[in-house]
Amino acid sequence: MLEEWSLPEFSDVTVLTATELITNAVLEIAKHSWAVLPPVRLWLRGGPPGVALLVWDPILAAPVPRVASENDERGRGLAIVAELSAAFGFYYAADPAGKITWAAITTP
Ligand SMILES: Nc1ncnc2c1ncn2[C@@H]1O[C@H](COP(=O)(O)OP(=O)(O)OP(=O)(O)O)[C@@H](O)[C@H]1O
Ligand SMILES: [Mg+2]
Repeated sequence: MLEEWSLPEFSDVTVLTATELITNAVLEIAKHSWAVLPPVRLWLRGGPPGVALLVWDPILAAPVPRVASENDERGRGLAIVAELSAAFGFYYAADPAGKITWAAITTP
């Protein structure tokens, strides 16, 4: 899609951001036996000044960046998203019920 939108230079940061947000959503869903397929949704929007990613999951718990210490093997994903994006956040969605975690990328 990024090639088609003439935004190939955004592909590395977009792939990394999508990986972090989708992995988080899948792992949260896996904790809940009531959560059924389709587990996540991804929307990608592109155009000046860059790329917006929106990832839906049905879990109401919030994505909260953690402060990973030197020895922690986990807890850096959202910090990486925060570093690579111009802004990120989440909001609750009514239909389908759940939340959308988003990131706006303006620097390749
Ligand atoms: N989509 C989500 N729904 C609910 N909680 C989330 C979601 N994404 C992240 N979180 C919470 O925020 C925490 C921090 O996420 P983050 O991606 O920074 O670290 P991690 O997933 O624990 O580890 P890493 O990404 O470094 O492997 C997670 O441990 C989880 O508790
Ligand atoms: Mg993560």
